[in-house]
Amino acid sequence: MTKSPILLNIKWDGLAKKAAFEKALPDHPFYNLADGMPSTEELAEVKYAVVWKPEHGFLATLPNLEVIFSLGAGVDHVLEDKQLPDLPIVRFVDANLTGRMVEWVVLQVLMHLRHQRKYDSFQRINQWNEIFPQPSADQLTVGIMGFGELGQAAAKGLLPLGFNLCGWSRSEKSMDGVGCFHGEDGLESFLARTDILVSLLPYTPATHGILNRNLIEKLSRGGPFGAPVLINAGRGGSQVETDIIACLKEGLLHGVSLDVFETEPLPKESPLWSFENVIITPHMAAVSDPAALAEHVATQVNRYEAGEELEYLVDRARGY
Ligand code: NAP
Ligand code: GLV
Repeated sequence: MTKSPILLNIKWDGLAKKAAFEKALPDHPFYNLADGMPSTEELAEVKYAVVWKPEHGFLATLPNLEVIFSLGAGVDHVLEDKQLPDLPIVRFVDANLTGRMVEWVVLQVLMHLRHQRKYDSFQRINQWNEIFPQPSADQLTVGIMGFGELGQAAAKGLLPLGFNLCGWSRSEKSMDGVGCFHGEDGLESFLARTDILVSLLPYTPATHGILNRNLIEKLSRGGPFGAPVLINAGRGGSQVETDIIACLKEGLLHGVSLDVFETEPLPKESPLWSFENVIITPHMAAVSDPAALAEHVATQVNRYEAGEELEYLVDRARGY
């Protein structure tokens, strides 16, 4: 039996993505906006939409829409639509995406710990240069802001390497081997012990611009580099780039890794591009794998159609 259509707004880069959805949900037709706008009659049949940065107001035009799926773990791109219909929103939580984020975080932490950017620049000029000190992981504390799915997984990836770890979240958490802090009251203590700050916060009104000079000044300066490292793969709206640039120039930051930016793509004229101790990646820390996304959507659609609760629902009041 043909089931209700699923609307996608995914830019396919090849047939593989389409095949992934058709394989995971063989009985559901697909309309992908990237292939053209379906007819009014077709749109009227749509119960599920899988979206990334949907055009504002568009989801409200679908009369029979029942569930909105975010193509990513973050949902700020959906919630910012002022005409968003009051429907359940399911975010993407998945082992494949989590694994990619853990790889990215571990890579960035080690890049800074091991002076890799400096060695890269020496290599380019055929120069054999040792750099001291060479601190070991247990001489530094990595503090993870946003201690949810990704933050906790990143901690589990870093723990075996010997780093001291702490996490900060909205509600209280506990994890063996990790100092857990929460809420406004816990923030200063968390920052004061953090040599390498990793932000995996969602973008909400409460996290807008939180990675600013005031916060950077509260980070530990007692670590082996004398100044902290800032790493952000949450959302660019949480960082104040002019503050980060000023702190780099003033030596208040030892190094920075950014995957997300206030404006994406990062404008060519941004000074961030030109610092040797700033590592820039183009919002690809954890891309959504088509097959994993399709499986996730299929699992949730099948649950929903069997009358079971949807998982990974967004709390609109919290904004994530
Ligand atoms: P999550 O499971 O919802 O975790 C979010 C964490 O942030 C939770 O620990 C939450 O606290 C905490 N938090 C939220 N608001 C807070 C506040 N005001 N103060 C203190 N803590 C706060 O989300 P996730 O799956 O880990 O994803 C996190 C974010 O990563 C996404 O929203 C997205 O922006 C970003 N992301 C980026 C990429 C990329 O490629 N760059 C890929 C995937 C995701 P509680 O635990 O108390 O709720
Ligand atoms: C990517 O940025 C995501 O939210 O999954």
